[in-house]
Amino acid sequence: MDFNRTVLVTGGSGFIGSHLVCSLVYRHPGWRIINLDNLDYCCSPRSLESIEDRKNYTFIRGDVCNPRLVNHIFNTESIDVVFHLAAKTHVESSFESPSSFHQVNVDGTRVLLQAAHQARHQLQRFIYVSTDEVYGASLDKVFDESSPVRPSNPYAATKAAAEYVVRSYREQYKFPIIITRSNNIYGPRQYTEKVIPKFLTLLQMDKKCTIQGTLPKSRHFLFVSDAVDAFLLIMEKGIVGEIYNVGTSCEIPIMQLARELVKMVKNVSDSEVNDWLEFVPDRPRVDLRYPIKCEKLQQLGWRPQVSWAEGIRYTVKWYQENPDFWSDKP
Ligand SMILES: NC(=O)c1ccc[n+]([C@@H]2O[C@H](COP(=O)([O-])OP(=O)(O)OC[C@H]3O[C@@H](n4cnc5c(N)ncnc54)[C@H](O)[C@@H]3O)[C@@H](O)[C@H]2O)c1
Repeated sequence: MDFNRTVLVTGGSGFIGSHLVCSLVYRHPGWRIINLDNLDYCCSPRSLESIEDRKNYTFIRGDVCNPRLVNHIFNTESIDVVFHLAAKTHVESSFESPSSFHQVNVDGTRVLLQAAHQARHQLQRFIYVSTDEVYGASLDKVFDESSPVRPSNPYAATKAAAEYVVRSYREQYKFPIIITRSNNIYGPRQYTEKVIPKFLTLLQMDKKCTIQGTLPKSRHFLFVSDAVDAFLLIMEKGIVGEIYNVGTSCEIPIMQLARELVKMVKNVSDSEVNDWLEFVPDRPRVDLRYPIKCEKLQQLGWRPQVSWAEGIRYTVKWYQENPDFWSDKP
């Protein structure tokens, strides 16, 4: 079968990647979607089982840091678009093993860019999926895309460093790059180390939600289908060389998040909610909040479609209906 576009998604077996790959495969039967992923601890083969037999889907198990493999892919496939999501993503772990984060997040990005740039087939878009954490924390200032980058944890530092590698390809070679910086994304199939699935999994095991530290931390949460819609719109209408914030005004204090989840999962009254919360020490320096403006993306026509109430209800229901999704992981 002849395909009229080939899209390479790295990290396509992960949380966001699997939603993106499924959307691409279903929405574009005439496009070939290739997923390059080394199936790190945070993925389940079940995330992509609904598309694994589709003719327009190909899975390559491999490491983005492996230049031989990555060059081979670009020399044998006519890749038109790259969505680069493969990364080490758990902030806590980045304090323990910063070098592995550097290797995958920075070196892996360099390997991919080099192969994409040297490929015979000319790439149309290289979309690097970065994070609002590159801005560092803010109590009052709302970040737009021109705000300074001040990462304050090893994960965010590697994402910022990779952004600079990506941007250098624009400067040197006029390479067709676009960078996205998104808020916390949540939804079904997210691995249990991230805050929402972590709380849900603890509660399902009749354990308390662990609130780290006493500072009033909050996060802006974006439902995964809204993030995927934003990435697909940026692929079609985004301007090459630009950075796009992808986020919502839905800011939820972590304490409120825990309380909402306790009520939804445990069906308890307000007075009993505290019985399901436990306070544990935090790491020494933690970012309180990352507020961002998304006017550039809104000008392309994007608005989030899923409210917090709807998205969190749907997510809780999914974890309740799939309690073994992560515990049965081979
Ligand atoms: N989840 C969020 O809230 C969020 C917000 C903003 C940006 N991002 C970015 O989006 C991307 C995806 O995040 P996610 O939440 O889906 O993470 P995830 O941890 O669920 O997925 C990461 C994927 O990368 C793969 N991977 C890791 N190392 C690899 C390697 N060396 N070679 C090939 N594949 C490798 C993993 O196997 C996994 O499938 C990341 O780049 C992350 O920085 C995530």
